[in-house]
Amino acid sequence: MNILVTGGAGYIGSHTVIELLKNGHIVTILDNFSNSSPAILDRIMFLTGVTPYLVRADVNDKETLDSIFSTDAFDAVMHFAGVKAVGESTINPLLYYSTNVCGSIALLQVMEKYKVNTFIFSSSATVYGSPSQFPIAETCATNPTNPYGRSKLSVEDLLGDIYAADNTWKIAILRYFNPVGAHESGLIGECPVGIPNNLMPYLSQVAAGIRPEVIVYGSDYPTPDGTGVRDYIHVSDLAIGHLAALEHISSSSHGVYLPMNLGTGRGYSVLEIIQAFEIASGRKIPYRYSNRRPGDIAQSYADVSRSNELLRWVARKDLMDMCSDVWRWQIRNPRGYAQ
Ligand code: UD1
Repeated sequence: MNILVTGGAGYIGSHTVIELLKNGHIVTILDNFSNSSPAILDRIMFLTGVTPYLVRADVNDKETLDSIFSTDAFDAVMHFAGVKAVGESTINPLLYYSTNVCGSIALLQVMEKYKVNTFIFSSSATVYGSPSQFPIAETCATNPTNPYGRSKLSVEDLLGDIYAADNTWKIAILRYFNPVGAHESGLIGECPVGIPNNLMPYLSQVAAGIRPEVIVYGSDYPTPDGTGVRDYIHVSDLAIGHLAALEHISSSSHGVYLPMNLGTGRGYSVLEIIQAFEIASGRKIPYRYSNRRPGDIAQSYADVSRSNELLRWVARKDLMDMCSDVWRWQIRNPRGYAQ
């Protein structure tokens, strides 16, 4: 298939592009490189033997969108382009709504114009807010607690309205739990700008000696060891989940609107992650406890029965794979994609 991948140079987008190319799809990446590097293209080429087409543009740039849709007959769009830092979203909500919501609107308008109606949307388990039911199923109430989560849910709602108005659309909404890991080659991985907000990239920098210690946010949660529990999923499993979703919706004989969890279904605590990373890296990881981080919940793990059954997809990589791959990426690329 001929696929447009917005945000295809980013962390999850790039891993998905690799899987798409490996499976013979034709890929055009649209990216403004606001949180990624053009250097990734050479690595994708090295790993797959194919260079994807590249359009350097913002997803809000309707003129460019129009021009690429007028010259290229896309079969489907995978939409990763967006901003994703929860803390930043509380300080600059307009950036989150203009990029995530307006960007999606611009893209969907052009898709409608050119009659491309197969769409995979990059959403997040953050749309569930503080769920009261575990494991978290797609039928749980959505109630995000920050502007980032609300921007994702706004697009989900918009997609529901588009489908209600025209049920020939084929829409998969993929709600990621906690994506971690890196490509097994050590050539592609997560590249946070500045101090990482998320646990895995932070502790990988501690293991590498870039930061002195991990600060464990909260030791009094109602979890087995008192620290927060999350459903960490390897980014390559996540990428394969996108292909499975694409196959599922594009082969359907009718329209589809399908929100789906992508996770492993199993939770690990912060302490379990630190221990696993110590084994994977062979390094001691100093840590100390601090107060709970505002906005954090005690636990989050997915009910993956819908994606397992409908997509015939299951996350295969385990916690040791996730930690080893992050560590390989960290030691081989201490400065990320900058040489
Ligand atoms: C965060 C986002 C979520 C996003 C996800 C992507 C928040 C509130 N949520 O989820 O929207 O989809 O990242 O991966 O930011 N922790 C520490 N020390 C640290 C960092 C984290 O103890 O330095 C703990 C947290 O309290 C939590 C766990 O580690 O229990 C995971 O945190 P993190 O990696 O930031 O992910 P989430 O907060 O689950």
